[in-house]
Amino acid sequence: MAPVTDARARIDELVEELNEHSYRYHVLDAPIIDDAGYDALFRELQALEAEHAEYVREDSPTQRVGEKVGGQFPPITHRSPMLSLANARSLDELVGWQLRNLRLLGLGTADGDHAAESVQAGLTYVTEPKIDGLAMSLTYERGTFVRAVTRGDGVTGEDVTHNIRTIRTIPMRLRAPEGGTPIPDHVEVRGEVFLSRSGFEQLNEQRIADGLPVFMNPRNAAAGSIRQLDPALAATRPLGFFAYSLAGGGAEAQLGSHSASMAWLGEVGFRTSPDHQVHDTIDEVAARCAEWERRRPSLDFDIDGVVVKVDDNDVQEELGVVGRDPRWAIAFKFAPTTATTKLISIEIAVGRTGSITPYANMEPVEVGGVMVRQANLHNAYDIERKDIRAGDVVIVQRAGDVIPQVVGPVVDARDGTERRYEVPTECPSCGTPVQYEADEAILRCPNARCPERNLRLMEHFAGRTAMDIDGLGEKAVRRFSAEGLVGRIPDIYRVEWEQIAALERYGETSARNLVAAIETSKQQTLDRLLFGLGIRHVGEQVAVDLARRFRSLDALLEATVEEIAAVPGVGQVIAESVHAWAQDDANRELVRDLQAVGVRTELADDELAGPATEGPLVGKSVVITGTLGTMSRTEAGNLVERNGGRVAGSVSGTTDFLVAGDKAGSKLAKAEQLGTTVLTERALYEIVGEDVPEGALG
Ligand code: IVH
Repeated sequence: MAPVTDARARIDELVEELNEHSYRYHVLDAPIIDDAGYDALFRELQALEAEHAEYVREDSPTQRVGEKVGGQFPPITHRSPMLSLANARSLDELVGWQLRNLRLLGLGTADGDHAAESVQAGLTYVTEPKIDGLAMSLTYERGTFVRAVTRGDGVTGEDVTHNIRTIRTIPMRLRAPEGGTPIPDHVEVRGEVFLSRSGFEQLNEQRIADGLPVFMNPRNAAAGSIRQLDPALAATRPLGFFAYSLAGGGAEAQLGSHSASMAWLGEVGFRTSPDHQVHDTIDEVAARCAEWERRRPSLDFDIDGVVVKVDDNDVQEELGVVGRDPRWAIAFKFAPTTATTKLISIEIAVGRTGSITPYANMEPVEVGGVMVRQANLHNAYDIERKDIRAGDVVIVQRAGDVIPQVVGPVVDARDGTERRYEVPTECPSCGTPVQYEADEAILRCPNARCPERNLRLMEHFAGRTAMDIDGLGEKAVRRFSAEGLVGRIPDIYRVEWEQIAALERYGETSARNLVAAIETSKQQTLDRLLFGLGIRHVGEQVAVDLARRFRSLDALLEATVEEIAAVPGVGQVIAESVHAWAQDDANRELVRDLQAVGVRTELADDELAGPATEGPLVGKSVVITGTLGTMSRTEAGNLVERNGGRVAGSVSGTTDFLVAGDKAGSKLAKAEQLGTTVLTERALYEIVGEDVPEGALG
């Protein structure tokens, strides 16, 4: 056995070293040791501590997960009250807030130019994301973590130290700050405990698997975790902490501003509000709020707004507090992204490939700023797993441009009248027995002549990004189908204007225009035709890749799986899907019929020539997503290719740039995750050396 003093010294050394590694890993995201190396040191410490219980330090990493606590959490009165925030729901209210503050401070006039006034007044602001978690107060005595207390009613909270200790981003000992300001004897740090979205989703998956009710949102899940009696359980929940204020220790007075406090908190070992920023004008603040709202869907933590704080401590003091709300801070709130509503019935949709998908028909509810009535329920397995029943009160979620989702039922709201979903045995449109496809949870209607399936397909075929037949939208297709004018795609080309003009609400002109648009579409390029045929897994870009390689539909019909899979941008799954489509008799008949009615099924020599061999984007792989301000995605793709770049359909490790427009969804999230360079529309123009036209985004 090691001499006692050596053991103590080694314990000290190990604690310091392990805490440093933990800080580098959890706070800085920059580990310098692998998991196995960490574990070895940790086990050494555990063994030494087992022999020398008297040397176990409070800030030892072995002490993060302690004993269970008794049945309640002791109440603790906060040294200074934990305040809440007044809300601004629009940019106008934000400006109003600044004008009121300027008036109170005796600066500027109430009706002047608000941006100029704040510069002139020297008022600076800090913006931070408003994390949707739980406010927590952490106390450090002589640099060591001693207590964590919930906000409670703002005056008194509950002692949840045992669980907060398990959060690895919270230092058990403060680090020595670099710049002069020493650590006061008593430090109180306030911030938000939260659960990441990915952590939340995993947790809910686990709960579904265990037959437990799902948590409504990450906030509730975090709250539930913090109120666990057993810290071992809390330790399994991937909670995080962002510090957003320093209270009651004297350090903040010395630091002089909120931004300086945040910098100090970073130095002593905390993660502070991510991407907080200092601004000189309220217009800059407003722009930043809009930016956070755009970023919101791609973040891995829920935010419900942006907190705006006056930076200077003296100005904060002068503005003071009304009731519970400081005048010097305000929350710019976003629309909530979850809501509850009643699920009236589970209906079934037939897709253009024959897919049979259940969807929720719900009482209308506003989520994320839009009214939602329907949500995809994916498949029977998902419905059963989540135990969603017709008549349930359900939690609905919608973030950014993401399609509404049913997170799960509110089990407590059930009264016994709810009905379980019954898997259909036949297609609701044509009555054909439905089939499961190999390896798939998806049911399909196998009938190539199924009316609903063809209706969906025709709608897609005529759509703007496919054959672009103006005037042939969902309504018109349904109407023509009901009148017996069209059943399958080739029928579109057989409709005569007199037949349309005979329908109510159609005049001769609109009928002639529509038939002319149909006629024009016969000359669309092969990629659009391919995309319009609705082949599974063939998106716009894959259609371009296929058209470019095979140059005619006939050539594609004869291609082998290997030949298709060899096309750049086309993988095995796509190749098999295209091949299976091409081998299907009904599809071959469809192609023959299209050719018979005069639809062009090959490329002209000069079409889809491919990327130029020189230009600023040679060798670069570019993905385009979202809605751009001055051009369609196809046009942007042409611009990229004219300048030597290659356009790809999905973001991967080899993507050089993602050009992201408005409502960029999962591709932007993927790019941020992979660290891919994201370009605005403006930046794309600049890179290729073209003048930036009015209306370009960014
Ligand atoms: S500051 C005096 N900063 O929002 C200011 N709060 O409605 C007090 N919150 O209870 C809070 N992110 O739970 C502040 N960056 C942030 C925040 C934040 C989230 C929460 C916090 C607070 C509530 C106020």
